[in-house]
Parts: sequence; C-alpha cells; structure tokens
Amino acid sequence: MTAYADFYRRSIDDRDGFWAEEAKAIDWQTPPQQVCDYSNPPFARWFVGGTTNLCHNAVDRHLATRADQAALIAVSTETNTERVYTFTELHAEVQRMAAALKELGVQKGDRVLIYMPMIAEAAFAMLACARIGAIHSVVFGGFASGSLASRIEDSEPKVIVSSDGGSRGGKVVEYKPLLDEAIKLSSYKPSAVLLADRKLCAMNIVAGRDHLWKALREKHLNTVVPCEWVEATHPSYTLYTSGTTGKPKGVQRDTGGYAVALAASMKHIYCGNAGETYFSTSDIGWVVGHSYIIYGPLIAGMATIMYEGLPIRPDGGIWWSLVEKYKVTVMFSAPTAVRVLKKQDPALLTKYDLSSLRALFLAGEPLDEPTAQWISDSLKKPIIDNYWQTETGWPILGIANGVEHKASKFGSPGVAMYGYDVQLLDENTGERLTGANQKGVVAIEGPLPPGCMQTVWRDDARFINTYWKSIPGKLVYSTFDWGVRDEDGYFFILGRTDDVINVAGHRLGTREIEEAISSHPNISEVAVVGVADQLKGQVAVAFAVVRDASGLVDEAARAKLEAEVMKVVDNTIGAVGRPARVRFVSVLPKTRSGKLLRRAIQAVCEGRDAGDLTTMEDPAALEQIRDSVQ
Ligand code: PRX
Repeated sequence: MTAYADFYRRSIDDRDGFWAEEAKAIDWQTPPQQVCDYSNPPFARWFVGGTTNLCHNAVDRHLATRADQAALIAVSTETNTERVYTFTELHAEVQRMAAALKELGVQKGDRVLIYMPMIAEAAFAMLACARIGAIHSVVFGGFASGSLASRIEDSEPKVIVSSDGGSRGGKVVEYKPLLDEAIKLSSYKPSAVLLADRKLCAMNIVAGRDHLWKALREKHLNTVVPCEWVEATHPSYTLYTSGTTGKPKGVQRDTGGYAVALAASMKHIYCGNAGETYFSTSDIGWVVGHSYIIYGPLIAGMATIMYEGLPIRPDGGIWWSLVEKYKVTVMFSAPTAVRVLKKQDPALLTKYDLSSLRALFLAGEPLDEPTAQWISDSLKKPIIDNYWQTETGWPILGIANGVEHKASKFGSPGVAMYGYDVQLLDENTGERLTGANQKGVVAIEGPLPPGCMQTVWRDDARFINTYWKSIPGKLVYSTFDWGVRDEDGYFFILGRTDDVINVAGHRLGTREIEEAISSHPNISEVAVVGVADQLKGQVAVAFAVVRDASGLVDEAARAKLEAEVMKVVDNTIGAVGRPARVRFVSVLPKTRSGKLLRRAIQAVCEGRDAGDLTTMEDPAALEQIRDSVQ
C-alpha cells in the first residue's frame, strides 16, 4: 500500500486510534475520555469528556511563541484600508468584543447572529463568541431581509452584531435598514444589536436596543475575558444552508471535533505551516470562510487574509499583489473567481512575485477542465480541487499532499479524504457501486468524521430524515451529489440530485427563490431551475405563471414585470438569488399527480433531451418553455 492508502485505511479501520493521534494537535483543558461515541447513530459525539476552546486554540495558545507575528490581515479595496493585527492585537480585540457581548447579556450557549461585511470586526465577533462559549450564526452579508429574518427566527440570537454597511465595486450596500426590516419581520426579537460604524452611510439607531461597538470597545479596552472551557461536543456555531425545502437548515457544528478536523486538514491537505500566510478569497458568510479564513489558518498559527472587494478592482492583479506583499503560501478560491480572472489581461499574472505560493486550492463548485488548465498554465503552481459541503466543514474529497504527494486529475476533486467512508450508491436500491465509472449518489457511511455537522439546529428529526433516510434500506449520509469513481479511486462530481443550485459557488435552494417570487401579487406559480452558465457555473432561470396576463401585451410589459419579479427576489433573498431571466408562461410542465417536472425544464433550457415524459400532464407546457428560451 502507498502511504496515503495506508493512512486512509487506518482512519477507517482504526478510527479511534487515528483521531486520538490527530487530537494531540490542539490544546485541551481536560483531555477526552472517549474518542467517538456512536452509540446513537447517526449522531456522532467526538472527543467526549474533553474540554477545550476554539478561540484559545486559534489565538491565545500562539501568544507564547508568536505574539508579534501577523494573525489577521484585513484588506479592503472598497475603503482602501489595510490593517495587520498581530496575535497580541487580535487577542486584545477579541477580548474587547467578548466583554461587549457579555455586557449585552450573552452567556455560554446563547446565540449571536453576525451579519457583517468582510471587516476585521466580523472576525473579532466570531472569535469572541467562541471565547465565551456563545454559538455564532453568521449570515452572509449579501442576503436581504427575508433570508435574514428566517435565520433570526430560527436561531433566536440574544445579540446581533452588524454594521452600517458594506461596499461592493465601490457601491455602498446599506446593511442597517435590511437588518431593521428583518427584525421587524421576525417574531423573535434580539435583546440588543451591536454595530460597527464604518461611516459608509447614515445609520438609524434604535434607542435601548442598538449599541455602538466603538463605545463599548473603549469601555472595555483592558477588560480581561478568559476563555470559557466548553465540552468538546458544545456547539460552536450554526450556519444556514439550502436544501430541497424552502426553509434553510441550521447546520450545527461542535467545538472539539471541529478544532481537531481543521488542525488535521491544515497539515495533511492544505499543508500550511505556522508563521506563513493563508489567503482564502471566500466570505465569512459561507463555510469556507468559517473553516479557512478564520479557524483553520489561525489554529495552525498562520496569518490569514480577510479581503473585502472584487477580484478585479482596482484591476485583476489585486489578489496576486497580496500574494506578493504578504508572502502567501497557501491560497484558496472558487472556480468562478478564476473564470472571472481569465477574462483579464494575462500580463497581470506575471507582474507579481508569486514565488512564496505553493498551491492554489479551489472548491465550492465543479472545476471545469479549461479553467483548471488555464490557471495551471498561468500560475505554474499546483491547482488542487477539493469537494465538500457546509455540512462537513472540511474536504470529503481531495488530495492529501501532506501525507503523500499525489497528482491531481483535472475534472476530479480527488480521492476520499481520511475519515470519510465515501461510497457510491444506487439511488433506488441503495446498493454499493464498486465498479469503475458507475454513476451513483455520493454517500458517507456513519459516523461522519470530526468537524462535520452534529445535527440540524433544534431539529434532530430533520437531520435524520433529510440526510440519512434518502437512500432506501439503510442509514447512510447522502451528499445529494451524483458522482462516479475511476479505476484509481478519483471521484468526479456530476451535479446535485436535489433542487439545490450552485451560482458562482453560492449554494442556493430553488425553492427559496420560488417562494420569494410567489410573493409577487401577480405571480400564481413558478418553477426555478439551474441552467449551465459559462461564467457562473449555473444561473437561476424562473418560469412564472401570471395571475392576470392581460397587461402583458408586449415585450416592454414583460420586461417590466420581469424587473419587478427580480426586485422582489433582491428584497427578500438578496441579489445572489436573483434569476438571470424570468420567463412568463401560461402553464408549467407537471406530472399527472401534480409534481413539477424541474429536470425536464432544466434539460430543455440546456438544449438536452428532456427524458421520459410519459407521466406529463400537458406536453404543450414543455413546448412553451422551449419556445420561451429559443
Ligand atoms: O454540489 C457540491 C458543490 O457544492 C455543494 C456544497 O456547497 P456548500 O455547502 O456551499 O459548501 C461548499 C464547500 C466547499 C456540494 O454538495 N461542490 C462543492 N465543492 C465542489 C462541488 N462540486 C464539484 N466540485 C467541487 N470541488
């Protein structure tokens, strides 16, 4: 057996021995008594009896050896600011934030919702929550009041940390009105709101509820807030993600297992060393931001770059200039960003000294071969795809170069990562597909390894029913992705089995978009599908049935209604959910039992064969779709 094959086998066959070894990479206040308690499947409890703290592992423990080393590098090309926080400074800021949260009544186990742009205060808030044992729930700053309200409702945060606004491409995005509206929409109300005022726009302050970070920070400049030692199984955060139904699920993560999993992945997969700089271009609102902007690099003792801005502003060389300036060794981005850069002047890639960079990791959506080839040729560095989910928190498939150097295959995110017993299953029979190149559902045999979701926030039944009951006849975790495996064990991901779409690496539920569109008074029914797109991977396209079509007399009238529908989505979900097109039809293709034929609609939009249509109620409905896209 080769080194990795050996390592992988041990992670499955000697699960507890393997993870006990990995657990030594983090600091424990009390060492765990049991590595994995899987007595109540599918609920896995990792490092039972151990107590630790994420903030201690990410910040405090580095003070002894790297106090003056850069920890957080906050760069904004929107406000033209750049600030490097050493571990000592980060430690101080996090304590101030923790003191502010405590003053506002936050205690261990309370939720704190963080609705922030990519600024240092967002990192302080996350780490401060971890420090005091509060459970953070970061909501992507691109989400609008409807999405935010449903997350407030579900997580019931004692405090919300936010800001006056963000900025995108030089345009200010006001957060505060969206937040106020969301709190109004939610039946649950937070007791306080803590606001970082960037002076980007005016802010309406609600007396008694809203507090300014600046004032509380000054009050607590020297307040000492020790780390609260929490059980390894204590939830560190929830992060909402989309699935088949309209209601997003709160993915709940533990503390000890997460810290161990991240430390292991930094060593074996990303190969980042203490003292170096990590640059992930994601956003703290997504799982990549949680694991590989904030916790992973800091736990490893690396400096991490937090970047607010576009990849092409002031020009397409901005990221490479940061690699040069901060001697980035490990970089992490998404295929969409690379496709955006591909359209820029190629000279920008040779203008900077990229000698520090060892590899570029890409994840979040399929990496197409031309994109992979282009960036590989241009950078002349290893391009390493990796596949995972909000639910898992770290790669399911990848290449563990830290264990054994292995070649990447373009188009494949790699092989099963240690700890994951990945299987391809027949969707109807649940049978294991063991032959090469057989298409099946990518599934994981329990227990999920450390770092993966513990449950759906306050909804154990939903955790079981959604993830573990979709394959007939067995309790197994479904990723809801199709895949195949070649003779060398490399997987290829072939798209989702459910109604989730992936727009520019952003995971969105088509049902959520449909629900938003249906709230327009003149829309009676709508189907949203993901359609392949050269730049964004996929875009959402909506087909809507109007209640009163008498006004839709010409193109101009249709365009007006289309713009209105897009506006509704912008206001509810945010521009990330906005369909690229809204087409109006008089009827939607359905089965005789009334099920929407989304796959057939999608196939028609992509110019593919619509498949078996024998159960279709009204064939003319699909013809209308065909006509409308032609
Ligand atoms: O469909 C897969 C796709 O993105 C989904 C997970 O998205 P999210 O929860 O936002 O987590 C992203 C973490 C990187 C998956 O179910 N996906 C993610 N990475 C890849 C991918 N599809 C193909 N190749 C990938 N490398």
